[in-house]
Amino acid sequence: MKAKGEKIVSLTAYDYFTAALLEAVRVDFILVGDSLANVVQGHDTTIPVTLEQVIYHTEIVVRKAPEMLVIADMPFGTFNVSAEETVKNCIRAFKETECGGVKLEGASPSTLEAVSRLSQMGVPVMGHIGLTPQSVHTEGGYHMYGKDDADRSRLMEDAKRLEQAGVFALVLECVVPDLAREITQGVRVPTIGIGSGPYTDGQILVVHDLLGMFPVGSPNFVTRYADFFELGKEALGRFVEDVRSGKYPSVPSHARKNGGSKEQ
Ligand code: KIV
Repeated sequence: MKAKGEKIVSLTAYDYFTAALLEAVRVDFILVGDSLANVVQGHDTTIPVTLEQVIYHTEIVVRKAPEMLVIADMPFGTFNVSAEETVKNCIRAFKETECGGVKLEGASPSTLEAVSRLSQMGVPVMGHIGLTPQSVHTEGGYHMYGKDDADRSRLMEDAKRLEQAGVFALVLECVVPDLAREITQGVRVPTIGIGSGPYTDGQILVVHDLLGMFPVGSPNFVTRYADFFELGKEALGRFVEDVRSGKYPSVPSHARKNGGSKEQ
């Protein structure tokens, strides 16, 4: 798709319903993001989510959309410890869920080593640089990356190292758009942007942000295409009112005596 200049579209999914939606609109791949810690579990960061939980949610998504490329996002603490540990955890996620690949944040030496071993074994690995939410505490919060020369060269080098190690695609999160374009032109693998402007090979967003499935606000780079929370609140509010007022339920026709009178 990169070679043909076709944009790659991706969203996250964590369950049967979101997987069914993404399957219906045929996104190019589905990410079972560790953002499930935020949007499903209600945590402030992605750090608490466990490997077992990512495996559990990935299994559900793969079960619903077995024909689609589904990527499992490796959670905090399952990589970056050592290459051996990373390889072991990624193989576990890959085997147990039958997903199409795994995603790792950052470009530490152990991650690069693991990417190389995994890709040689046949496990597709997606990289992720720029804002890496698992490092939010050491990176001083959520902000844009690539604003100064040192950061720009570090990010470009990380992208090239990850490509050389064998990633099949690279997420660029909150990278300033002109650097996102330079990285996109500087690597052969597709870049998938989030909050990084329009020049990447594809785009990914958290489905809850896009559909307004979350009671609190979304990042400022997200356009809400729907407000499922308000829609659900309005529908459920009517249901609550109807039950309280006796309007719902009515007696089902098959249970009515005397030819369909609503009275029992
Ligand atoms: O966890 C996540 O949802 C991500 C993004 C790239 C959307 O990593």
